[in-house]
Amino acid sequence: MIDGMVSVALPKGRLGEKVYARLKTAGYPCPSIEEENRRLIFDNPVAGVRYFWVKPSDVAIYVERGAADVGVAGKDILLEYAPDIYELTDLGLGLCRMCVAAKKDFRDRTDRLLRVATKFPRIARGYYASISRDIDIIHLNGSIEIAPILGLSDVIVDIVETGKTLLENGLEPKAVIVPISARLIANKVSYKFKHDQIMELCRRVEAQSGKDKS
Ligand code: PRP
Repeated sequence: MIDGMVSVALPKGRLGEKVYARLKTAGYPCPSIEEENRRLIFDNPVAGVRYFWVKPSDVAIYVERGAADVGVAGKDILLEYAPDIYELTDLGLGLCRMCVAAKKDFRDRTDRLLRVATKFPRIARGYYASISRDIDIIHLNGSIEIAPILGLSDVIVDIVETGKTLLENGLEPKAVIVPISARLIANKVSYKFKHDQIMELCRRVEAQSGKDKS
């Protein structure tokens, strides 16, 4: 935590760019972040803000441990890792859904354990427990769509945005588990001690939400 400034962990990548654009119009610009460079920390003392670019799946860790006051994380990460943070608002950005997908001709054989490949074991376990289906989790770190094609798994539990990756790999969604979007989150101690600054940032960002849904 840095006194006087609100520190914001942004997810590196396309979502982070959109989030920064919204923060900028909300009154938290930072000219140095817009320069072409490979730095990861950017300050604007005038606007009272400090930005960090971090790996999207790490944002919640920075915020939970107080290395950042606030951050933007996908609901997928919050459901999977259940960090001890406050979820302040749904930014309506990064819209996608957590789905079960499989080969088009897949038929579930309920007399067998279902082999589920995923980056999200907690979400997958929770979903299959809710429908009382016994599963065998295969925890992968990426390119999940390849698992059913190579016979490593029967189905996958993964994020679907446009559906293009599934389509181009001969898979199709079989069930939607939960809709996903980006959330503004806050460290619990920062929320107490920088309450006014954090709520002001949250309000201003929310005020932009209706204007630039994308
Ligand atoms: C995500 C997800 C899917 C893809 C979905 O992958 O795991 O593979 O995006 O997007 P689409 O529906 O628009 O095609 P990501 O780019 O994060 O890569 P990885 O999971 O393979 O690391």
